[in-house]
Amino acid sequence: MPRRVLRFLRRGRVISLSGFAPTTTILDWLRLDERSTGTKEGCAEGDCGACTVVVARLRDGQLVHEPVNACIALLGSLDGAELITVEDLAEGDTLHPVQEAMVQHHGAQCGFCTPGIVMSLFALHHAHDGEMDRSRVENALAGNLCRCTGYKPIIAAALESCARPAEDRFARTASERIAALAAMNDGRPLLVGDDNRFFAAPTTCDGLADLLLRHPDAQLVAGATDVGLWITKGLRRFDQMITLQRVTDLALIETNEDEICMGAAVSLADAASILGQFDDDLEIMLDRFGSQQIRSAGTVGGNIGNGSPIGDLAPCLIALGATLELRRGEAIRSLPLEDFFLAYRKQDRAPGEFITRIIVPRPGPQDLIRITKISKRRDEDISSMLMALRLTVDEGRIAMARLAFGGMAGIPCRAPAAEGVLKGQLLADAALWRRTAAALAEDLQPLSDLRASADYRMQVAQNSVIKALAEMAGIPSHLTRIVPRRETRHV
Ligand SMILES: Cc1cc2nc3c(=O)[nH]c(=O)nc-3n(C[C@H](O)[C@H](O)[C@H](O)COP(=O)(O)OP(=O)(O)OC[C@H]3O[C@@H](n4cnc5c(N)ncnc54)[C@H](O)[C@@H]3O)c2cc1C
Ligand code: FES
Ligand code: FES
Repeated sequence: MPRRVLRFLRRGRVISLSGFAPTTTILDWLRLDERSTGTKEGCAEGDCGACTVVVARLRDGQLVHEPVNACIALLGSLDGAELITVEDLAEGDTLHPVQEAMVQHHGAQCGFCTPGIVMSLFALHHAHDGEMDRSRVENALAGNLCRCTGYKPIIAAALESCARPAEDRFARTASERIAALAAMNDGRPLLVGDDNRFFAAPTTCDGLADLLLRHPDAQLVAGATDVGLWITKGLRRFDQMITLQRVTDLALIETNEDEICMGAAVSLADAASILGQFDDDLEIMLDRFGSQQIRSAGTVGGNIGNGSPIGDLAPCLIALGATLELRRGEAIRSLPLEDFFLAYRKQDRAPGEFITRIIVPRPGPQDLIRITKISKRRDEDISSMLMALRLTVDEGRIAMARLAFGGMAGIPCRAPAAEGVLKGQLLADAALWRRTAAALAEDLQPLSDLRASADYRMQVAQNSVIKALAEMAGIPSHLTRIVPRRETRHV
């Protein structure tokens, strides 16, 4: 029998909710129900970070503190977790070390962004593992926009307050918090509502498969970093929502000598820690994927399931030769990832079916990888174009080529004509690089939109291919990039 009550930890107490609209966001609950108005709403689409809260969870028995955009995260996603907001940090009149450093360094002017910035830094404070430098701080703040103070004092406050392991009230009470979270984890599925209108959180793949078969029209949701915007910006209302958040089998990463299998509900942050080991370019791309808030909530399966032509993971995984595994009821099938995308926003997925795993072959010693993401801003920006290329090179000759693009068609796609030009050729032949780039005109029909014109997209795709091939042929990356690549590593 499912549990009918949503339960989460807040200020040392268990909050139990037996009735809420399936699309309620954490921010709405905080501001409208609990009346905790310290957490602000700015953009309501995951971009500005004013709404950042911290969600603490148990992962393999360890307490992790993740920054989350409360404006798009669903209230139901809190089941079994602890919600921490800016009101909770100070102890009486004594500010939290992060808040105190913000005051000392003059890190706020109008103050609208400040609660979100403080919460991102609070998460960083608790992520301390002995190393803190400017690039980590910048990474932690990439999802927090400040329009008036400027980042210099905020970064100074972060470097000061996050330099040591946390000794705050949350660290001092960690064992009690762990015990309280563990006590809530009953392993039972959650279903709040009735058959017509519900928020459900199954805990096993079998339970999810069964529920989706019975409710094939229910809206499946994982991190809600796409779905949340359909609610806040598209004003869509879903009567039946099923979250993957508690399906533990879908959050597993399994590795062997040949491949890596990522469950669909693996977060982008966890995927980054494993895929980033394949190659420097993959690590850089995943570092630039949204923000810390987006990467801790968003999932691999959500990025693929959304089917966006500008999703960043799909072209990278297609170039790596990934296979997608889907399940409907008891039936499980696999297909090459590129075959999943049929047409603009149309995927090869039947009602009641869901993605279970993504299987990625490990690149071998003869494989070379290059990825280029072009966007207007470095961080927290959607791609205008993404190119991913993997070559297998045997004694200077290209034995295999997989070239994939995002932003260049209605779906993430391969470039078969350009791949055909490359196969069997000598990589060092500079004329080959230009012939390959020219062949893209056969493969790709980009559109013009607000992000980029079709001509720009084509030109930047062609230039990216030439640059990638030149680097792969041995041109040092300090000649092709502002920040040179690190050595290639295949783990
Ligand atoms: C501020 C911001 C920045 C972003 N930056 C980037 C970026 O840099 N690059 C990029 O590619 N994207 C970006 N995104 C988009 C989004 O974060 C990603 O697409 C993310 O991976 C979605 O994952 P999710 O778990 O949140 O998906 P959800 O929003 O939960 O779901 C998205 C879709 O996938 C479906 N789905 C989820 N899981 C499954 C499954 N197992 N089987 C079948 N269908 C499933 C859902 O039904 C839904 O249709 C950004 C979004 C925001 C708000
Ligand atoms: S309000 Fe801007 S990210 Fe949530
Ligand atoms: S202090 Fe005004 S937006 Fe940051």
